Amino acid sequence: MRAGHFSLKLPGLSASTIIMTRLPRILVWSNVLSINRAAQFRRVLPGGKQRIGKMINLKINGETHELDVDPTTPLLWVIREQAGLTGTKFGCGIAQCGACTVHLDGSPVRSCVVPAQAAVGKDIMTIEGIKPGHGLHAVQQAWIDEQVPQCGYCQSGQIMSAVALLAANPSPSDQDIDAAMSGIVCRCGTYPRIRRGIKRAAAAMSNASNNGEKVNG
Ligand code: FES
Ligand code: FES
Repeated sequence: MRAGHFSLKLPGLSASTIIMTRLPRILVWSNVLSINRAAQFRRVLPGGKQRIGKMINLKINGETHELDVDPTTPLLWVIREQAGLTGTKFGCGIAQCGACTVHLDGSPVRSCVVPAQAAVGKDIMTIEGIKPGHGLHAVQQAWIDEQVPQCGYCQSGQIMSAVALLAANPSPSDQDIDAAMSGIVCRCGTYPRIRRGIKRAAAAMSNASNNGEKVNG
């Protein structure tokens, strides 16, 4: 055998035979390891109830939730399943579509790839939380006025991204809008209406601010 060269050859056995004969054992061990990993988070609570993870506190829309979760669970599922806030949608699960966008300390993030643990101590805002007090957020109102949604599935991600854009840039150009929004996939192709909606919201927020009015935005 040459130095640096590894050969799987054993007397009388081909590599494929070795893999086929060892595969069941490898699979059994990988299952044992994952079961052990799950058990590591399992605890028994008073009253005999089983805990499935670890108690963590998450501040969602200004409210603290004490949640029993595996800290590695994607934030999206914690928001939807544990906190019961289903306005945030699952699209691809791999940070490619933006349907799951929420804000972490004011910045838009793809909650499908953020572990719950990473959100501890931060302000999480979902679509349900962008409307402080009464009335609609300026972006929501503009979305209605421009009739932006079609099927609606992507729209919570679109609105969360638009709100973050306007917070950072109150008067975005077409290029700014395209740069901020192009990663949020809309299968219905509502992009022209999204652009109009953002411009309308920007104008409403600017007018309200010039008139000294309080505007949600
Ligand atoms: S579901 Fe998170 S980016 Fe698609
Ligand atoms: S409105 Fe249907 S996917 Fe965007």
